[in-house]
Amino acid sequence: MTPSSTSDLTIRKAVPGDIEAIVQITKDNDHFWTPAVDGVEALARIIARDGNVILVSVDDDGKVTGFLIGTWDGARAFIHKISVSPVIHHKGTGRMLVSAAIEEFKKTGAPTVAVSAADGTRFDEEDSTGFWEKVGFEYIPARLMINFNIWEKNGGNLHEDK
Ligand SMILES: CC(C)(COP(=O)(O)OP(=O)(O)OC[C@H]1O[C@@H](n2cnc3c(N)ncnc32)[C@H](O)[C@@H]1OP(=O)(O)O)[C@@H](O)C(=O)NCCC(=O)NCCS
Repeated sequence: MTPSSTSDLTIRKAVPGDIEAIVQITKDNDHFWTPAVDGVEALARIIARDGNVILVSVDDDGKVTGFLIGTWDGARAFIHKISVSPVIHHKGTGRMLVSAAIEEFKKTGAPTVAVSAADGTRFDEEDSTGFWEKVGFEYIPARLMINFNIWEKNGGNLHEDK
């Protein structure tokens, strides 16, 4: 992708050197669930894999301030995660990350892009649905369901230490 930027913010594809900052932002937002999905090795696999869109926002000093992770399966595009450093919330970074991701998905031919949005009803998560509406998404009734057993059947522990 061609990096997009405003005067003090650039959006570009993530590289392995960004991983530490990405993990830190996830932790700063209290969104680090488990190393199996949010840890350093998981992020390295995400960055290396074709079809994934993983973007970072970078400030003037080269500091990573936010990121977005999405996938395209050949038809549908899906945003799995977005996180912006809490000290710069509500300053337009999230919007820029989403529009850059949509541009990337458009290039693949994806006709839609969806997200599973935290609505504030579980744990202490913030309600992000207002953000998603502001950046062009609309609500459709659906429930995210998850099978926790796959990893644990293979001897992994989703609840191991961060
Ligand atoms: C949600 C998040 C990514 C938004 O990033 P951001 O950089 O603060 O967003 P922006 O400043 O680009 O916001 C775009 C618009 O949405 C609004 N907005 C941002 N967060 C919002 C929220 N939680 N609820 C309602 N509106 C919100 C902004 O005020 C702005 O409105 P405007 O265009 O009228 O000024 C950020 O708050 C975050 O990282 N939260 C913690 C992690 C999280 O909840 N991720 C989403 C899980 S699905």
